[in-house]
Amino acid sequence: MLRVKELTKRFGGLLAVFGVNFEVNPGEILALIGPNGAGKTTVFNLVTGVLQPNGGEILFDDRRLNGLKPFQIAALGIRRTFQNLELFTTLTVAENVMVGAYHTCRAGFCRSLLRRPGAMKEDRKLYDKALALLAQVGLADKADWPAGSLPFGQQRLLEIARALAGEPKVLLLDEPAAGLNHDESRRLARFLRSLADSGLALTLVEHDMETVMGVADRIVVLNFGTVIATGTVAEIQQNPEVIAAYLGKEVEAC
Ligand SMILES: Nc1ncnc2c1ncn2[C@@H]1O[C@H](COP(=O)(O)OP(=O)(O)O)[C@@H](O)[C@H]1O
Ligand SMILES: [Mg+2]
Repeated sequence: MLRVKELTKRFGGLLAVFGVNFEVNPGEILALIGPNGAGKTTVFNLVTGVLQPNGGEILFDDRRLNGLKPFQIAALGIRRTFQNLELFTTLTVAENVMVGAYHTCRAGFCRSLLRRPGAMKEDRKLYDKALALLAQVGLADKADWPAGSLPFGQQRLLEIARALAGEPKVLLLDEPAAGLNHDESRRLARFLRSLADSGLALTLVEHDMETVMGVADRIVVLNFGTVIATGTVAEIQQNPEVIAAYLGKEVEAC
């Protein structure tokens, strides 16, 4: 479904992403791992149109995404969460999710916020949809709290609910387990699996190896912008180059 071919991005003299290839299909969870600075977030910024590549192709259902604007890519069904949270902290939890769904309703979220005639019914529909999504991530009872008052881990879950409100076909998650405690991470992993089982294609950037190894179907390992290994969890865990470049450091750190 989503295919990246020979993707390359330069920042001045720095090759942040070079010749990267991977694909992710419906029902599948692909993990993108690698040390800090390996180019993982840059790959997400390229796929979502925040940055334009210097080389290579991004294909979604065989349609070329190169050159499209972020809102066009989001409208095609590719949504993401951010490594550094980007919530509207003074809006409520439910309103943050409603923002993610605005394009699915006729009245539009801005009209709805301005209380224009005809918007109330749509507003109600969006609110109910937001509540259903919040229930899925365990935040329904906090729907009317200001988003900024949630603990950090729950703000991450809120970002996922907002991304899902856009009814994506592909979901890109940038370090979703960062700041979550052990129980929250395990619950997140189960939730991600259930999303994949419902037909979503997921790509996950994550440093928490327990989450990655527990949930990924396939893993792509980046180092200095290039793919050093692609494979199943078992293949990656035994790959000497990956252990030297990345997993070994995790082990030493423990
Ligand atoms: N907008 C940018 N301008 C210049 N350099 C950038 C920019 N974004 C990322 N980089 C650099 O590209 C490299 C890859 O960064 P990033 O994709 O954020 O890595 P990761 O997410 O794997 O930690 C880093 O060296 C980073 O400093
Ligand atoms: Mg990053």
